Amino acid sequence: MADDTERAASLLRQARRVCVLTGAGVSAESGVPTFRASDGLWEGHRIQDVAHPDGWAKNPQLVWDFYHARRAKAGSVSPNPGHDALAELEKRFDSFTLATQNVDGLHQRAGSRAVLELHGSLRRTRCTGCIDVTDQGLDPLPAMPTCVMCGAVVRPDIVWFGEMLDERVLKEAGRAAATSDVFLVVGTSAVVFPAAGLVALAARGGAKVVEFNLTRTDASEFADVGLYGPSGQTLPAVLAAL
Ligand code: OAD
Repeated sequence: MADDTERAASLLRQARRVCVLTGAGVSAESGVPTFRASDGLWEGHRIQDVAHPDGWAKNPQLVWDFYHARRAKAGSVSPNPGHDALAELEKRFDSFTLATQNVDGLHQRAGSRAVLELHGSLRRTRCTGCIDVTDQGLDPLPAMPTCVMCGAVVRPDIVWFGEMLDERVLKEAGRAAATSDVFLVVGTSAVVFPAAGLVALAARGGAKVVEFNLTRTDASEFADVGLYGPSGQTLPAVLAAL
């Protein structure tokens, strides 16, 4: 592990452009549950019921109850040393992009600036009538929140299964991945596309890929270096070795 930490640090020392992809694992040590732990359920709900347009059409109150709970959770936790290390790493490079699949806002709270939220944000709502997008913070919202502009029901500004990612955000992430010298893939099972496709894109573009995870994943075949342990420990270790 010490050798791999040094190898990762050495790759970063030679890099000019760095891109990072994070997933739920980077927030696990903050107390935010990951998705694919065991039973395929999110807090007892089927994904189709709470993270799919069909679930929203069927029972928007159930969807909002689920997201009220996720918002409250995100507001009650704090960034961990893994988030902090990524925020610090950003300061060492002129070109640094962090693409995250997480919607909890912990990277920004740790101080990361160039963050691309691939799957949206728990802080934001999107109106189902006038398409207004509003940053609501993480304070409690009414049970079924409505739009201040037009009065229609608003939904969480989250990318659900079967929905497209924001094209501008995805393009920017793709460009950053494809032109990076070093690509860090942190705490993701790398099975949800198109986000997971950024790893192959980076590798094809010539980036050295460093994986931070508890275990090997679908991204491991692209990894030049793998640091297998909690990212709240492995990321600070690489930063310290820089
Ligand atoms: P997953 O739950 O699929 O994967 C979490 C990964 O984090 C696993 O590979 C774990 O081994 C790893 N992990 C857990 N704890 C860790 C730790 N302390 N340090 C390092 N790694 C750790 O979550 P994602 O890959 O983020 O999409 O899932 C991708 C997307 O699937 C999510 O954004 C969400 C979900 O459906 C949408 O909501 C659209």
